[in-house]
Amino acid sequence: MAASTGLTQRLLRGAVRGLSSGTEGATVNVVFVDRTGREVPVRGRVGDNVLHLAQRHGLELEGACEASLACSTCHVYVSAPHFDRIPAPDEREEDLLDQAPLLQENSRLGCQLLLAPALEGARFTLPRLTRNFYVDGHVPKPH
Ligand code: FES
Repeated sequence: MAASTGLTQRLLRGAVRGLSSGTEGATVNVVFVDRTGREVPVRGRVGDNVLHLAQRHGLELEGACEASLACSTCHVYVSAPHFDRIPAPDEREEDLLDQAPLLQENSRLGCQLLLAPALEGARFTLPRLTRNFYVDGHVPKPH
């Protein structure tokens, strides 16, 4: 009985926090910087997935595995101080980041990032290349 009471209290606290946070449906302004350095200001909603947000606005963030944590083609650099405000990557994301070309201290997988008020003003910069992406528009010729 005590355990279920504790659980109930935790659920209620969570519900209250969700109601009182006032962030549901709130907008967050971020900027994507594409591979040419072009800045694309974007207004998203709290909870938006950064990969999908980028794709909706025409950025070439591939997302080859469709956010199933099986590639690194959604690799982005996150601006300071926003990088420190997002939850740390789990082990699987860290493993994939280790395989990403041009890894930096502020590298993350875009498909694992959700917009939150703390990301207001964040900049997500696309690296010059990803594993499945040819630099500068190079198109491979068939053999
Ligand atoms: S889209 Fe493949 S890990 Fe993000």
